[in-house]
Amino acid sequence: MSILKNFYRKNKAKVESVSKTKCKIDNISKYNLHRKKTKMLKQNSDDETSVKKEFKSEPRKIAIVSGKGGIGKTTLAINLGYLLNKEFKMDNVVVDCNMTTPHLGVNLGLYNVDITLNHILKDESRAEEGIFEHNTGVKVIPSSLKLTDLSEVDMFKLPEKLDDLNINVILDSAPGLGREGLAAISAADEILFVTQPYTTAVVDLYRCRKVAEKLDKKIIGIVVNNRKNKNHELTNDEIEKITEIPVISSIPYDMEIERALVKKLPLSFYNPKAKSNDALYSLASTIAGFEIKRKKTFFENLLNSFRRTV
Ligand SMILES: Nc1ncnc2c1ncn2[C@@H]1O[C@H](COP(=O)(O)OP(=O)(O)OP(=O)(O)O)[C@@H](O)[C@H]1O
Ligand SMILES: [Mg+2]
Repeated sequence: MSILKNFYRKNKAKVESVSKTKCKIDNISKYNLHRKKTKMLKQNSDDETSVKKEFKSEPRKIAIVSGKGGIGKTTLAINLGYLLNKEFKMDNVVVDCNMTTPHLGVNLGLYNVDITLNHILKDESRAEEGIFEHNTGVKVIPSSLKLTDLSEVDMFKLPEKLDDLNINVILDSAPGLGREGLAAISAADEILFVTQPYTTAVVDLYRCRKVAEKLDKKIIGIVVNNRKNKNHELTNDEIEKITEIPVISSIPYDMEIERALVKKLPLSFYNPKAKSNDALYSLASTIAGFEIKRKKTFFENLLNSFRRTV
Protein backbone atom coordinates (compact mmCIF):
# COMPACT_ATOMS: atom_id res chain seq x y z
CA MET A 1 0.00 0.00 0.00
CA SER A 2 1.33 3.42 -0.94
CA ILE A 3 2.46 6.02 1.60
CA LEU A 4 -0.35 8.28 0.42
CA LYS A 5 -3.04 5.71 1.13
CA ASN A 6 -1.59 5.13 4.62
CA PHE A 7 -1.65 8.84 5.22
CA TYR A 8 -5.32 9.16 4.36
CA ARG A 9 -6.22 6.05 6.27
CA LYS A 10 -4.62 7.77 9.29
CA ASN A 11 -6.63 10.92 8.66
CA LYS A 12 -9.87 8.97 8.37
CA ALA A 13 -9.16 7.38 11.76
CA LYS A 14 -8.62 10.87 13.25
CA VAL A 15 -11.88 12.01 11.76
CA GLU A 16 -13.77 9.07 13.25
CA SER A 17 -12.37 9.88 16.66
CA VAL A 18 -13.54 13.46 16.21
CA SER A 19 -17.11 12.42 15.55
CA LYS A 20 -17.07 10.80 19.01
CA THR A 21 -15.96 14.05 20.63
CA LYS A 22 -18.78 15.41 22.74
CA CYS A 23 -19.83 18.98 22.16
CA LYS A 24 -18.56 21.02 25.10
CA ILE A 25 -19.53 24.49 23.96
CA ASP A 26 -21.18 25.42 27.27
CA ASN A 27 -18.06 24.60 29.29
CA ILE A 28 -15.76 26.96 27.43
CA SER A 29 -15.00 29.92 29.62
CA LYS A 30 -15.18 33.41 28.19
CA TYR A 31 -11.49 33.83 28.99
CA ASN A 32 -10.43 30.81 26.94
CA LEU A 33 -12.60 31.85 24.06
CA HIS A 34 -11.11 35.32 24.00
CA ARG A 35 -7.56 33.90 24.09
CA LYS A 36 -8.30 31.46 21.29
CA LYS A 37 -9.93 34.11 19.15
CA THR A 38 -7.10 36.58 19.62
CA LYS A 39 -4.52 33.87 18.88
CA MET A 40 -6.36 32.79 15.74
CA LEU A 41 -6.75 36.34 14.47
CA LYS A 42 -3.06 37.05 15.13
CA GLN A 43 -2.02 33.80 13.46
CA ASN A 44 -4.22 34.67 10.48
CA SER A 45 -2.67 38.11 10.09
CA ASP A 46 0.88 36.69 10.47
CA ASP A 47 0.04 33.98 7.97
CA GLU A 48 -1.47 36.50 5.57
CA THR A 49 1.77 38.45 5.53
CA SER A 50 3.88 35.37 5.01
CA VAL A 51 1.41 33.97 2.49
CA LYS A 52 1.64 37.20 0.52
CA LYS A 53 5.43 36.86 0.38
CA GLU A 54 5.37 33.20 -0.59
CA PHE A 55 2.37 33.58 -2.82
CA LYS A 56 4.12 33.44 -6.15
CA SER A 57 6.17 30.34 -5.34
CA GLU A 58 3.63 28.28 -3.41
CA PRO A 59 0.10 27.88 -4.81
CA ARG A 60 -2.63 27.86 -2.16
CA LYS A 61 -5.48 25.41 -1.75
CA ILE A 62 -8.52 26.92 -0.07
CA ALA A 63 -11.59 24.78 0.66
CA ILE A 64 -14.96 26.48 1.04
CA VAL A 65 -16.72 24.38 3.65
CA SER A 66 -20.08 24.32 5.41
CA GLY A 67 -21.80 21.89 7.74
CA LYS A 68 -25.21 22.44 6.22
CA GLY A 69 -26.14 22.41 2.54
CA GLY A 70 -27.49 25.22 0.36
CA ILE A 71 -25.65 27.89 2.28
CA GLY A 72 -23.79 29.64 -0.57
CA LYS A 73 -20.51 27.72 -1.02
CA THR A 74 -20.72 27.41 -4.81
CA THR A 75 -21.88 31.02 -5.14
CA LEU A 76 -18.93 32.16 -3.05
CA ALA A 77 -16.47 29.89 -4.89
CA ILE A 78 -17.49 31.33 -8.28
CA ASN A 79 -17.40 34.92 -7.10
CA LEU A 80 -14.09 34.60 -5.26
CA GLY A 81 -12.61 32.73 -8.22
CA TYR A 82 -13.69 35.55 -10.52
CA LEU A 83 -12.58 38.45 -8.30
CA LEU A 84 -9.25 36.91 -7.28
CA ASN A 85 -8.41 36.22 -10.92
CA LYS A 86 -9.60 39.46 -12.41
CA GLU A 87 -8.99 42.10 -9.77
CA PHE A 88 -6.30 40.61 -7.53
CA LYS A 89 -4.34 38.84 -10.29
CA MET A 90 -4.35 35.73 -8.13
CA ASP A 91 -4.50 33.09 -10.82
CA ASN A 92 -6.76 30.31 -9.57
CA VAL A 93 -9.02 27.46 -10.56
CA VAL A 94 -12.28 26.53 -8.81
CA VAL A 95 -12.73 22.77 -8.48
CA ASP A 96 -16.14 21.16 -8.00
CA CYS A 97 -15.63 18.72 -5.14
CA ASN A 98 -19.38 18.21 -4.72
CA MET A 99 -19.45 15.25 -7.09
CA THR A 100 -22.82 13.73 -6.22
CA THR A 101 -24.68 17.03 -6.64
CA PRO A 102 -22.36 19.12 -8.84
CA HIS A 103 -23.51 22.72 -9.39
CA LEU A 104 -20.32 24.61 -10.25
CA GLY A 105 -20.49 23.94 -14.00
CA VAL A 106 -24.27 24.32 -14.13
CA ASN A 107 -24.07 27.71 -12.39
CA LEU A 108 -21.76 28.90 -15.18
CA GLY A 109 -23.80 27.36 -17.99
CA LEU A 110 -21.36 24.50 -18.59
CA TYR A 111 -23.30 21.32 -19.21
CA ASN A 112 -21.10 19.31 -21.59
CA VAL A 113 -17.46 19.50 -20.68
CA ASP A 114 -15.09 16.92 -22.16
CA ILE A 115 -12.85 16.53 -19.14
CA THR A 116 -14.26 16.64 -15.62
CA LEU A 117 -12.92 15.96 -12.13
CA ASN A 118 -14.35 12.44 -12.53
CA HIS A 119 -11.98 11.75 -15.44
CA ILE A 120 -9.06 13.17 -13.45
CA LEU A 121 -9.76 11.06 -10.37
CA LYS A 122 -10.08 7.96 -12.56
CA ASP A 123 -6.63 8.64 -14.08
CA GLU A 124 -8.19 9.17 -17.51
CA SER A 125 -6.90 12.75 -17.78
CA ARG A 126 -4.31 14.96 -16.14
CA ALA A 127 -5.54 17.68 -13.78
CA GLU A 128 -4.34 20.62 -15.90
CA GLU A 129 -6.18 19.21 -18.93
CA GLY A 130 -9.43 19.61 -16.99
CA ILE A 131 -9.15 23.39 -16.48
CA PHE A 132 -11.91 25.14 -18.41
CA GLU A 133 -11.79 28.92 -18.83
CA HIS A 134 -15.24 30.49 -18.80
CA ASN A 135 -15.72 33.55 -21.00
CA THR A 136 -15.75 35.78 -17.89
CA GLY A 137 -12.26 34.55 -17.00
CA VAL A 138 -13.28 32.20 -14.16
CA LYS A 139 -11.28 28.98 -14.40
CA VAL A 140 -13.04 25.82 -13.29
CA ILE A 141 -12.74 22.07 -13.16
CA PRO A 142 -16.38 20.94 -13.10
CA SER A 143 -17.64 17.53 -11.99
CA SER A 144 -19.59 15.36 -14.39
CA LEU A 145 -23.37 15.57 -14.46
CA LYS A 146 -23.60 11.93 -15.62
CA LEU A 147 -24.49 9.51 -12.85
CA THR A 148 -22.49 6.74 -14.56
CA ASP A 149 -19.30 8.83 -14.31
CA LEU A 150 -19.46 8.44 -10.52
CA SER A 151 -18.51 4.77 -10.61
CA GLU A 152 -14.93 3.98 -9.64
CA VAL A 153 -14.20 7.54 -8.56
CA ASP A 154 -11.87 7.63 -5.57
CA MET A 155 -12.36 10.99 -3.84
CA PHE A 156 -9.32 10.42 -1.68
CA LYS A 157 -7.09 10.76 -4.74
CA LEU A 158 -8.06 14.45 -4.76
CA PRO A 159 -5.02 15.77 -2.81
CA GLU A 160 -2.60 13.91 -5.07
CA LYS A 161 -4.31 15.22 -8.22
CA LEU A 162 -4.53 18.83 -7.03
CA ASP A 163 -0.85 18.75 -6.09
CA ASP A 164 -0.15 18.33 -9.82
CA LEU A 165 -1.65 21.77 -10.50
CA ASN A 166 0.73 24.70 -10.40
CA ILE A 167 -2.03 27.21 -9.68
CA ASN A 168 -4.06 28.36 -6.65
CA VAL A 169 -7.08 26.16 -6.08
CA ILE A 170 -10.47 26.98 -4.58
CA LEU A 171 -12.31 23.81 -3.60
CA ASP A 172 -16.09 24.05 -3.74
CA SER A 173 -16.92 21.41 -1.14
CA ALA A 174 -19.97 19.25 -0.57
CA PRO A 175 -21.76 20.06 2.70
CA GLY A 176 -20.97 18.21 5.91
CA LEU A 177 -18.50 15.53 6.79
CA GLY A 178 -19.37 12.80 4.32
CA ARG A 179 -16.79 11.30 1.98
CA GLU A 180 -16.76 14.29 -0.39
CA GLY A 181 -16.65 16.91 2.36
CA LEU A 182 -13.78 15.13 4.08
CA ALA A 183 -11.84 14.72 0.84
CA ALA A 184 -12.06 18.47 0.17
CA ILE A 185 -10.90 19.35 3.70
CA SER A 186 -8.05 16.81 3.39
CA ALA A 187 -6.94 18.17 0.02
CA ALA A 188 -6.88 21.82 1.16
CA ASP A 189 -4.30 23.73 3.18
CA GLU A 190 -6.70 26.45 4.28
CA ILE A 191 -10.38 26.35 5.20
CA LEU A 192 -12.93 29.11 4.66
CA PHE A 193 -16.15 28.29 6.51
CA VAL A 194 -19.54 29.50 5.31
CA THR A 195 -22.72 29.65 7.30
CA GLN A 196 -26.04 31.40 7.50
CA PRO A 197 -26.90 33.15 10.78
CA TYR A 198 -29.01 30.32 12.20
CA THR A 199 -28.26 27.80 14.94
CA THR A 200 -28.34 24.54 12.95
CA ALA A 201 -25.89 25.77 10.33
CA VAL A 202 -23.58 27.24 12.96
CA VAL A 203 -23.55 24.13 15.19
CA ASP A 204 -22.69 21.98 12.15
CA LEU A 205 -19.76 24.29 11.53
CA TYR A 206 -18.39 23.65 15.00
CA ARG A 207 -18.06 19.94 14.12
CA CYS A 208 -16.34 20.76 10.81
CA ARG A 209 -13.88 22.98 12.65
CA LYS A 210 -12.94 20.10 14.95
CA VAL A 211 -12.16 17.93 11.91
CA ALA A 212 -10.18 20.67 10.17
CA GLU A 213 -8.12 21.16 13.32
CA LYS A 214 -7.42 17.43 13.65
CA LEU A 215 -6.15 17.49 10.10
CA ASP A 216 -3.91 20.49 10.89
CA LYS A 217 -5.55 22.85 8.41
CA LYS A 218 -5.24 26.59 8.68
CA ILE A 219 -8.63 28.15 9.40
CA ILE A 220 -9.15 31.45 7.58
CA GLY A 221 -12.44 32.28 9.29
CA ILE A 222 -16.20 32.30 8.81
CA VAL A 223 -18.24 34.02 6.12
CA VAL A 224 -21.79 34.68 7.29
CA ASN A 225 -23.85 34.61 4.12
CA ASN A 226 -27.42 35.73 3.46
CA ARG A 227 -27.52 38.26 6.32
CA LYS A 228 -30.86 40.05 6.43
CA ASN A 229 -30.12 41.89 9.70
CA LYS A 230 -33.28 40.61 11.36
CA ASN A 231 -33.65 40.27 15.13
CA HIS A 232 -34.03 36.51 15.01
CA GLU A 233 -30.63 36.02 13.33
CA LEU A 234 -27.58 35.05 15.38
CA THR A 235 -25.14 37.93 15.76
CA ASN A 236 -21.51 37.56 14.68
CA ASP A 237 -20.49 37.53 18.36
CA GLU A 238 -22.84 34.64 19.04
CA ILE A 239 -21.52 32.75 16.00
CA GLU A 240 -17.95 33.26 17.19
CA LYS A 241 -18.84 32.08 20.70
CA ILE A 242 -20.39 28.86 19.41
CA THR A 243 -17.74 28.02 16.84
CA GLU A 244 -14.63 29.66 18.33
CA ILE A 245 -13.78 30.86 14.82
CA PRO A 246 -13.55 34.57 13.90
CA VAL A 247 -16.21 35.92 11.56
CA ILE A 248 -14.27 37.67 8.79
CA SER A 249 -17.12 38.64 6.48
CA SER A 250 -20.89 39.17 6.34
CA ILE A 251 -22.52 38.99 2.94
CA PRO A 252 -26.04 40.40 2.76
CA TYR A 253 -28.97 38.61 1.22
CA ASP A 254 -28.97 40.06 -2.30
CA MET A 255 -31.48 39.26 -5.00
CA GLU A 256 -28.87 40.28 -7.56
CA ILE A 257 -26.87 37.17 -6.56
CA GLU A 258 -29.86 35.05 -7.56
CA ARG A 259 -30.30 36.99 -10.81
CA ALA A 260 -26.60 36.53 -11.62
CA LEU A 261 -27.02 32.80 -11.02
CA VAL A 262 -29.92 32.65 -13.45
CA LYS A 263 -27.73 34.44 -16.02
CA LYS A 264 -24.91 31.95 -15.24
CA LEU A 265 -22.48 34.75 -14.38
CA PRO A 266 -20.38 35.87 -11.40
CA LEU A 267 -22.11 38.72 -9.57
CA SER A 268 -19.35 41.30 -10.06
CA PHE A 269 -19.45 40.65 -13.82
CA TYR A 270 -23.25 40.66 -14.01
CA ASN A 271 -23.81 43.73 -11.83
CA PRO A 272 -20.75 45.53 -10.40
CA LYS A 273 -23.06 47.88 -8.46
CA ALA A 274 -24.93 45.14 -6.57
CA LYS A 275 -25.02 45.73 -2.81
CA SER A 276 -23.15 42.52 -1.89
CA ASN A 277 -20.16 43.38 -4.09
CA ASP A 278 -18.43 45.49 -1.44
CA ALA A 279 -18.50 42.54 0.97
CA LEU A 280 -17.16 40.21 -1.74
CA TYR A 281 -14.27 42.61 -2.52
CA SER A 282 -13.48 42.92 1.16
CA LEU A 283 -13.46 39.11 1.57
CA ALA A 284 -11.25 38.69 -1.49
CA SER A 285 -8.89 41.31 0.01
CA THR A 286 -8.65 39.33 3.25
CA ILE A 287 -7.82 36.17 1.31
CA ALA A 288 -5.30 37.83 -1.00
CA GLY A 289 -3.63 39.69 1.89
CA PHE A 290 -3.96 43.13 0.32
CA GLU A 291 -6.89 45.46 -0.22
CA ILE A 292 -8.62 46.36 -3.45
CA LYS A 293 -11.90 48.25 -3.28
CA ARG A 294 -14.67 48.07 -5.82
CA LYS A 295 -14.42 50.92 -8.31
CA LYS A 296 -17.41 53.16 -7.91
CA THR A 297 -19.27 54.29 -11.01
CA PHE A 298 -19.43 57.95 -12.01
CA PHE A 299 -23.01 58.22 -10.71
CA GLU A 300 -22.18 56.57 -7.37
CA ASN A 301 -19.32 59.06 -6.85
CA LEU A 302 -21.63 61.92 -7.81
CA LEU A 303 -24.31 60.71 -5.40
CA ASN A 304 -21.75 60.30 -2.59
CA SER A 305 -20.38 63.81 -3.04
CA PHE A 306 -23.96 65.14 -3.12
CA ARG A 307 -24.70 63.31 0.16
CA ARG A 308 -21.56 64.75 1.74
CA THR A 309 -22.56 68.28 0.87
CA VAL A 310 -26.15 67.96 2.14
N1 LIG B 1 -26.04 36.31 -0.40
C1 LIG B 1 -26.99 35.72 -1.11
N2 LIG B 1 -28.14 36.39 -1.40
C2 LIG B 1 -29.13 35.80 -2.10
N3 LIG B 1 -29.10 34.54 -2.55
C3 LIG B 1 -27.98 33.81 -2.29
C4 LIG B 1 -26.89 34.36 -1.57
N4 LIG B 1 -25.92 33.40 -1.48
C5 LIG B 1 -26.39 32.32 -2.12
N5 LIG B 1 -27.63 32.55 -2.61
C6 LIG B 1 -28.51 31.62 -3.32
O1 LIG B 1 -28.68 30.47 -2.49
C7 LIG B 1 -28.79 29.31 -3.28
C8 LIG B 1 -27.83 28.24 -2.80
O2 LIG B 1 -26.51 28.69 -3.02
P1 LIG B 1 -25.32 27.69 -3.36
O3 LIG B 1 -25.71 26.73 -4.43
O4 LIG B 1 -24.12 28.51 -3.59
O5 LIG B 1 -25.19 26.89 -1.98
P2 LIG B 1 -24.23 25.66 -1.65
O6 LIG B 1 -23.80 25.83 -0.24
O7 LIG B 1 -23.17 25.55 -2.66
O8 LIG B 1 -25.23 24.43 -1.77
P3 LIG B 1 -24.84 22.87 -1.74
O9 LIG B 1 -24.56 22.57 -0.29
O10 LIG B 1 -26.06 22.21 -2.25
O11 LIG B 1 -23.64 22.68 -2.60
C9 LIG B 1 -28.57 29.73 -4.72
O12 LIG B 1 -29.81 29.87 -5.34
C10 LIG B 1 -27.88 31.09 -4.60
O13 LIG B 1 -28.16 31.94 -5.67
MG1 LIG C 1 -22.67 23.89 -3.90
